[in-house]
Amino acid sequence: MSCAQMVLEVVGLRAEFAGAGAATTVVNDVDLVLHQAERLGIVGESGSGKTALALSILGLLDPPGRVTGGRVELGDVALSELDDRSLARVRGSRISYIHQDPLTALNPVRKVGRQIRDVLDRHTGLTREEKRRRIRDLLLELGFSDPVGIESRYPHELSGGMRQRIAIAMAVVARPDVIVADEPTTALDVRTQAEVLAMLDRVAEHHRTATVLISHNIDVVGSFCDTIAVMYAGRIVESGPAAEVISAPRHPYTRALLDAVPSLTTDRSQPLREIGSALRSEDRTAAGCTFRARCPVGRDRPDCREHRPHLDGGSHAWACHHPLSILAERTAR
Ligand SMILES: Nc1ncnc2c1ncn2[C@@H]1O[C@H](COP(=O)(O)OP(=O)(O)OP(=O)(O)O)[C@@H](O)[C@H]1O
Ligand SMILES: [Mg+2]
Repeated sequence: MSCAQMVLEVVGLRAEFAGAGAATTVVNDVDLVLHQAERLGIVGESGSGKTALALSILGLLDPPGRVTGGRVELGDVALSELDDRSLARVRGSRISYIHQDPLTALNPVRKVGRQIRDVLDRHTGLTREEKRRRIRDLLLELGFSDPVGIESRYPHELSGGMRQRIAIAMAVVARPDVIVADEPTTALDVRTQAEVLAMLDRVAEHHRTATVLISHNIDVVGSFCDTIAVMYAGRIVESGPAAEVISAPRHPYTRALLDAVPSLTTDRSQPLREIGSALRSEDRTAAGCTFRARCPVGRDRPDCREHRPHLDGGSHAWACHHPLSILAERTAR
């Protein structure tokens, strides 16, 4: 991956939500790097800040949320410096966002073929015929056997899986360098989830598009992505090659996510089984490790209470004073 061109760089990104009292920092000093055709998975339980991070990257975070620091570079474009008009031009053409719920992204009163064409009208100078051909080819690639028939349908006439594939079509049709897919399959049944991910995988592969896949399910992320960033309370607490993070997690939170891979019947608003209780707001601002109160390892250790661990290491990095030992992991399993 290292020789591939870097397409997205996020440095020290911070975002907060203003509330009645003090603002809550929900994205805290996040660094990410993404190369051409690379797949990066962002994983963390509900409320960890995955969507806030995605929206901050794309300049889509609305009040009461706001980005308070850091920068986002999309190749040679400093995204975080752009005004709204320039941002709107870049979104869809160079970076695009796939929303968790495709109905939000689709216009209910416009035929889906028109909606995909709108993206091309806005972002490309293709001729009518080139647009027609590109849309047909893409719909075929996304598994629609009758693209012409599909183009003349309205969103409500399609199944959930079909709508999500149309949302993918809109996100990729102008051939962006980067797609950010925020839990693109959670609203779907298991088989459809797998199909939609396979389609996203195929299209990304074909066009060498870099993908950020956001999910609460570390197994999903592990099977799709090259690298994983684990998010807890707005911070990346572990990151590295997917296979390594999954087979030899060093942060106790990553371990807990792996132990609690949700089945499709799990209510994901529930706290993780193994470590109980959800994140408390005071943990976000505590001096030490944000995970400490829930941590089976560091709960009572003074260093964990007093010093915030930084994300250290090489390509596999973790923010933990007492990382799990790889050896112990292997023998314990
Ligand atoms: N509109 C809002 N106003 C105030 N706080 C918000 C708002 N949206 C999100 N938050 C808070 O920001 C934090 C991060 O939320 P975010 O939606 O990014 O989490 P997430 O990891 O995407 O969760 P999920 O897996 O449920 O989608 C949470 O503490 C949440 O309560
Ligand atoms: Mg979310």
